[in-house]
Order: sequence, then C-alpha cells, then structure tokens
Amino acid sequence: MIDNKFNLGFFPTPLNELKKVSKKYPDYNVFIKRDDNTGLASGGNKTRKLEYLIKQALDANCDTIITAGAQQSNHCRQTAAACSIAGLKCHLLLGGDKPEIYDGNLLLSSILGAEIHFTGENRKGEDKETLKKKLENKGNKCFVIPYGGSNFTGAMGFVNAVKELKEQLIEQKLKIDYIFFASSSGGMQAGLTLGKELYQLNAKLIPISIDKDETNGLSLEEVVLNIIKEGGQKLNINKNFQLSDIRLNRDYDKDGYGVVTNNEINAINELAKNEGVLLDPVYTGRAFYGMLDFLKEKKIPTNANVLFWHTGGLPAIFKYANELK
Ligand SMILES: Cc1ncc(COP(=O)(O)O)c(C=O)c1O
Repeated sequence: MIDNKFNLGFFPTPLNELKKVSKKYPDYNVFIKRDDNTGLASGGNKTRKLEYLIKQALDANCDTIITAGAQQSNHCRQTAAACSIAGLKCHLLLGGDKPEIYDGNLLLSSILGAEIHFTGENRKGEDKETLKKKLENKGNKCFVIPYGGSNFTGAMGFVNAVKELKEQLIEQKLKIDYIFFASSSGGMQAGLTLGKELYQLNAKLIPISIDKDETNGLSLEEVVLNIIKEGGQKLNINKNFQLSDIRLNRDYDKDGYGVVTNNEINAINELAKNEGVLLDPVYTGRAFYGMLDFLKEKKIPTNANVLFWHTGGLPAIFKYANELK
C-alpha cells in the first residue's frame, strides 16, 4: 500500500537545523523539514497526498480530475500540476467570483492548464457532483479529489512521510520531541498520526489550526479521527483511536482563515531575515508564529528538539503584497 503511488515530487525533502532560530531561543534546538521543496509546481505538502490520489485515479482509468478550494488554494495549484504530469484533465471549483486579474495560486493553476469554475458562495466544493454529472454526460470519466486532498488515500502521503523522517533521523543521529505544522483540512495530521503508530516515532505532534470554521458540520478533530479510523483498519494498526487522542491547537486561528495579522507578518520576517526561508501568509506563517509563541512562553519542556514541518504555500504571498511590504 505504501508503494502504490505515482511519483510527482523530489523526496526526501531536506531536514536541517534552523541555527539562528535555535540561538535566539537557546532553551530549544529548532529544526525544519522542507516540504516547501517537494518540487511540484513550486512545492508544498499536497505533493505527498497527490502521489496516492493520482495513482488511484489512474488505476480507475479516469481521465478527468475534479477538486475544489479557495482561489488561493495550494491544493488546487498542485492538483493542476499533477494532472499535467499524469496527462489528466483538471477541473477546479474555486469559491468567489472571477477576478479581473489572476495572481498567486490562481494564476499558476491557470498557467498549469486547469479549467477553472468560479462558484461564488459555494466555497468548499458543494458543486462537485453537478459538475461531475455534466462532464460524465460528455463522456469523461471523473475522479473527485476531496477538499484539501484529505481522505485516507491522500493521508497515505504523510504515513509515508513519517517513514522518510524516521530514516533521516536515524541517518542524522537525531531525536525530535515535538513536531509543529499547519493543520487545515486534516489529511496531513491524520497521516502523521497513523505514520507515528506504524513506524514507532515518539515525537509529539502539535498541529496548529488555521481555519476556525467547521467542515460540513464536523470539527477538524472529527474529520481527522474519521480518516485515522479508516486508516487504522486498512494499515492493521492495533490501536482504538478516540477523539481525545486528536490534539489540535486552536490558539492561533481566531482571526479567521486567510486573515493576515502582525503575528504572521512578524513570523514571516523572522524566518526570512534570519534563515533565508520563505513562509506563506495563510498556513506556515500562522503555524510558525504559533511555534515561536510556544518557545517564547516555554509551553513545552526546555531542552526539547523541535521540528517545524514547512508545508509550502509560497505563491499566496503575492496576494498579500500590501500587508507584507
Ligand atoms: C501551505 C499549506 N500548509 C498546510 C496545509 C494544511 O494541510 P492539511 O489540509 O492536510 O491539513 C495546507 C492545505 O490546506 C497548505 O496549503
């Protein structure tokens, strides 16, 4: 199951220390895993999920992918790129109205050849089934990828990522105590949780919630648990996961999805100016801010080795030029 994927990226992604950040927070050693360098149309965490999802679509002899997201969706941009590589048609359902000028991820999705449908108020793929029927009536065989690529198949990308991390840790003779990352549609969190069990990785996950809204009436914790329950059975993991096992830090999502405050801006500046690493304003900027707050306030035991899992998202930065200048 772990090898049943269609290669789309460059792996393993680098794992290295953020030496200046470690120096600034001397009670901790801070490392970074560079999934912004996965290579697929400027990289990001969706590459890992798409390797499994695109394989499933190809195995089902589909010729068309349908997925949905915000206009600045990294998932949609990377899906468009994956479709180009795999020779599939790509239809994206993006919330809101057609803007006069395309920028950031929207521009890249268009350049990558996706057919874009603007869906107004329907921001989370509500129109997927209608579009699917329409395309199937024209003779296409459609494969629908869920919001954010977050189902068990997509999460397999992060089960595999834990195997990759474990191998790097052995090679570098390193132990990681805490892993911080942005969690939004839940697939990465579910995959890491399953991978931790499967590959016996002892690090604690600290997923930083990005979006305070619920998805289809379910909390993010419930979405993550549902994927984990399915995954636990399919991967023969002998653990009865409960809602209380799903930890999600909600301290930093109060301003809402895509709202950039001084907190994200300061985090972006701190990493860029000290380490030459670029964060995005929506996901990694917020998650890195959350992690720095943990370190400043000593919310985790001192002397810990801390990993920030960079999940990409850079193209969206150009949408926020006014806030960041
Ligand atoms: C840059 C970036 N980081 C993190 C995430 C969150 O990953 P997930 O949707 O698997 O929770 C996303 C996608 O939503 C993303 O685009």
